[in-house]
Amino acid sequence: MTAPLAFDDVRVRFGAAEAVAGVSLALEAGEIFGIVGESGSGKSTLANAVMGLLPGAATVSGSIRVDGREMVGLDEASLRTLRGRSVSMIFQDPTASLDPTWGVGDQIAETIRAHGLGSAREARTRAIALMDEVGIARAAERYRDVPHRFSGGQRQRIVIAAALANDPKLLIADEPTTALDVTIQAQVLELIDRLRREHGTTVLLITHDLGVVQMVCDRVGVMYRGRLLEVAATADLFERPSHPYTRALIAARPAAAKRGARLPVIPREWSVESLEARESEGAEAADG
Ligand SMILES: Nc1ncnc2c1ncn2[C@@H]1O[C@H](COP(=O)(O)OP(=O)(O)O)[C@@H](O)[C@H]1O
Ligand SMILES: [Mg+2]
Repeated sequence: MTAPLAFDDVRVRFGAAEAVAGVSLALEAGEIFGIVGESGSGKSTLANAVMGLLPGAATVSGSIRVDGREMVGLDEASLRTLRGRSVSMIFQDPTASLDPTWGVGDQIAETIRAHGLGSAREARTRAIALMDEVGIARAAERYRDVPHRFSGGQRQRIVIAAALANDPKLLIADEPTTALDVTIQAQVLELIDRLRREHGTTVLLITHDLGVVQMVCDRVGVMYRGRLLEVAATADLFERPSHPYTRALIAARPAAAKRGARLPVIPREWSVESLEARESEGAEAADG
């Protein structure tokens, strides 16, 4: 079966710096795959490479296939057709994805109309149904309300409604709950989980927070300096992390992490190499 999203030796350079340094990975249909890593590890660069959202200075090599279709080197017109239709992206800041001057319902309807799916009336009906589905109370009445009339959590729900408007097969969510407080974060994650179950959407969920991974991800990849160090089923990752860096991340997690606290940044001097060396020294000491 064709993977909904497949990376094959993907590299992204900004000049001399390699932000993504050889990522290979295939998502399974209908799963929520988490990519976890500290700030600067290349998560957003990898995500943005899928839909051609990198700045012109970036050079991408390798292969990224969405449902079998090669995305690397695809022309802008084709990318525009696919964005919001086959693949939707949501970001940390919902206000950046919404026009502040325009009713939210019309904005959802517009994403439907932009792909020529349905009449204006059908788009409006579907937009209201979507608002309702993501938990906006009295959706029809609130159709023309502008974004600032909603809370941060509601705005992210509206962005999710717009992202799902055309029933994409793949949703890429880059830190979608990082700006939200912990309770609202859990509700939005539950919403993403429910929607993928009901619509069969495959989700690539990017986060720096192991608590988020634990809450909703089926599998997870640990990213560090542009590389995927380890890919595992979520339960296995926490029970039997195989990479020393993953073990350090889990060990460094505060007790509060289960309630969604932020991942502490691993000091730079704990390079993967030094962690490996430290571990093997420990193993040798135990042997001796
Ligand atoms: N537009 C850009 N120009 C130059 N370097 C960039 C650009 N975007 C990201 N980078 C670099 O790529 C690396 C990965 O960044 P990013 O993908 O944003 O990490 P993450 O999302 O994991 O925090 C960082 O070293 C960052 O400085
Ligand atoms: Mg990022």
